[in-house]
Amino acid sequence: MNSHKRRSFLRKTLLGGVAITSLPFLSKGERSFVPPLATGSPPDWKQVRSQFPLTTVKTYLNTASLGPSPQVVIDTISNTIQDLEEQATTGRKISYATHEALGTLLNTAPENIAVTRNATEGANIAARSLPLQVGDEVILTDQEHVGGASPWLALQQQLGIKIKLVALDLTGKTNVQRIKSAISTNTKAIAFSHVACTNGMVIPAREIAKVCQAKGIFCCIDGAQALGMYPIDLEDIQPDFYYGSGHKWLFGPKGTGVLYINPNTMNRIQPSYVGAYSDSVFDLENLHQEYRQVAQREEYGTRNTGITLGLGAAVNFVQTVGMDALVKHQRELVAQLREGVASLPGVKIFSPSHPDFSSAIFTFRIEGHEYREVQSRLNGEQRLYVRGIYEANLNALRVSCALFNSEQEIDLLVNSLNTIVRG
Ligand SMILES: Cc1ncc(COP(=O)(O)O)c(C=O)c1O
Repeated sequence: MNSHKRRSFLRKTLLGGVAITSLPFLSKGERSFVPPLATGSPPDWKQVRSQFPLTTVKTYLNTASLGPSPQVVIDTISNTIQDLEEQATTGRKISYATHEALGTLLNTAPENIAVTRNATEGANIAARSLPLQVGDEVILTDQEHVGGASPWLALQQQLGIKIKLVALDLTGKTNVQRIKSAISTNTKAIAFSHVACTNGMVIPAREIAKVCQAKGIFCCIDGAQALGMYPIDLEDIQPDFYYGSGHKWLFGPKGTGVLYINPNTMNRIQPSYVGAYSDSVFDLENLHQEYRQVAQREEYGTRNTGITLGLGAAVNFVQTVGMDALVKHQRELVAQLREGVASLPGVKIFSPSHPDFSSAIFTFRIEGHEYREVQSRLNGEQRLYVRGIYEANLNALRVSCALFNSEQEIDLLVNSLNTIVRG
């Protein structure tokens, strides 16, 4: 591709809709070129699938663990790295296009967002930023991922805070009530997943955030499974912290995450780590410093602009497909899967059926079959990839229905399960 074409390629695919005044870097090599994703309603799902270099040899139904990237993300990373290395510069300024894109996706101002390494880093930053002391209580749920729960457990060991674990209702219906009932006068924070990694249940984030606001409790939301899979409006939810992964349902680069900090929370917290770009005043001579009052202060020091811009390209990819369209597509696949799985003997379904609480994740167990046995047969015989769920003792299989998955793949899965169960 010549440099003119490449410039427009970058503008269209990476920065779509984002105002940026100059793009100083042009590289010589273009590794590959997939025709840009067509806009259209409804999207052409085959064309969406063709954007992913993901092998056709396997049927990948595990986006909740790791989302494969479309070609535009891979190209953006490698082109950006090439460009920046040629110029020996960090490209920090151009990386803010990603914050703009994330701000639009999540309905918040770009400076309220920091790009992190993963969701776990966001959870750690939240946990370490709060003014917690011995005896303070933090509420967690029994459906948390290790990455969302471990930073709080560490504070229990290191600071002497108390963790209260709330058992969630897997139908989704009574969870707000359950969490509310666990609050005591010592509760200082509630940390929960927006979409549970175990069964894909949606937890009403706005309602819980409202309870937190009314009681002066910090609301910390783990959006690792929601980001890119489910519409998120942070202006509406108003949590104190919201963190997620770039590498799951956003199909972004591995080693990227997103952290939102509410601007109204800034004066109640301390930054966890600090460095260049965290400070508003840095006076070494007088041993004095002050911090910027925005989430972006968490991006201290030199960063990897290649993957940050790759994350921006991923956000624009998802936005081009469209949140409404992808939610509808995912729901149709889950409905097809639910129907197919329900016809199998001895099946126990763990994912809620109510549309307010269901998502693109579907979890079930086949009684009398260890999840590991079914998982390894699907894997070995059909090259079907799903995740086993040992968490919360579910002994179940989790299927992720992402925007690149098809009806044919769900049919293949149901037929294979049929053979395993009946065969
Ligand atoms: C709910 C939840 N939180 C946190 C994580 C950890 O994500 P990361 O690898 O981005 O830190 C996961 C990963 O599956 C998850 O499902």
